[in-house]
Amino acid sequence: MRDERPDPTGDLLAWYDVQARAMPWRVGPQDSARGVRPDPYRVWLSEVMLQQTTVAAVRGYFLRFTDRWPDVAALAAAPDAEVMAEWAGLGYYARARNLLACARAVVQDHGGRFPATRDGLLALPGIGPYTAAAIAAIAFDEAAVVVDGNVERVMARLHLVETPLPLAKPELIRLATAMTPPHRPGDYAQAVMDLGATICTPRRPACGLCPWRAPCRARAEGVQADLPRKLAKPPKPVRSGTVWIARRNDGAWLLETRPARGLLGGMLGWPGSDWDGAGGPAPFAADWRDAGEVRHTFTHFHLRLSVRVARGGPHNTPLRGDFLPPAAFRPGDLPSLMQKAHSLARAALGEG
Ligand code: ADE
Repeated sequence: MRDERPDPTGDLLAWYDVQARAMPWRVGPQDSARGVRPDPYRVWLSEVMLQQTTVAAVRGYFLRFTDRWPDVAALAAAPDAEVMAEWAGLGYYARARNLLACARAVVQDHGGRFPATRDGLLALPGIGPYTAAAIAAIAFDEAAVVVDGNVERVMARLHLVETPLPLAKPELIRLATAMTPPHRPGDYAQAVMDLGATICTPRRPACGLCPWRAPCRARAEGVQADLPRKLAKPPKPVRSGTVWIARRNDGAWLLETRPARGLLGGMLGWPGSDWDGAGGPAPFAADWRDAGEVRHTFTHFHLRLSVRVARGGPHNTPLRGDFLPPAAFRPGDLPSLMQKAHSLARAALGEG
């Protein structure tokens, strides 16, 4: 007779065996069953890229990175500016700086091989508890407990956790720990994340398709779309600043590499003021004109950036930054905020 005891893990893995999303860094469940293991470098790179970003946004970046730097030694040897430029648009630029620091630590301290345990991974630069657990589970099939936003949502619903986030975190971690199986933990971790991303979605979960619809306590109560509850966040303050975008008559643009520390650190950008509302000296005296305002939201504040434009000549020696000839300047190397400012400047200069 068939064993009829509930087996949520088995139900989830059976769902994943059919529905696993294809991803360029992923070894699918069929290959995984045949003993194929993913490349830890690719798992690490994808997990760092996926923090605060979607799979769809990451795919192209991942393919370009791995095409250019196919292994950790190649990435460790890359010039910082090239890696930062390739990262442009993904946001959270401290991650890109840590990515390089981590690649170099793996090469220098670990002979080019990623440590194979969660604790070993946790000691590397830029690898926090989530990323260490995800790499340990996915690349090395360690029964590490992987908890990201998707997993929190799925656990809160499955177990009807009414406590709001972030207070609920310890309880959600405890529940996730109790559910992490010793068998196929890497597939399990990816299955819960896929479930959260495709079925147990924040707004309108597709419960009819869910392998956990029977045991889901939030669904039984009809409150699945309300969970996880969240404490109200204080509103984000608005900060403001100015950038000066100068174009020389030979087509060169005035640019500077931002300081390594701080927001957009290490990225190429337009010379600008601090973002504290103060104006500040323009990089050279000229007929600076208003090109409009860019709005951008960072994790902890909204930014309003005034864009000032001017044409410069060979006599203009800037106080800061360097004129970059058009052949050496790719707008795609700029972070999104600076790209938006560039579009306004081009329009104001009559090039839009
Ligand atoms: N989100 C972050 N990492 C993921 C993974 N490995 N699979 C699915 N979604 C993810």
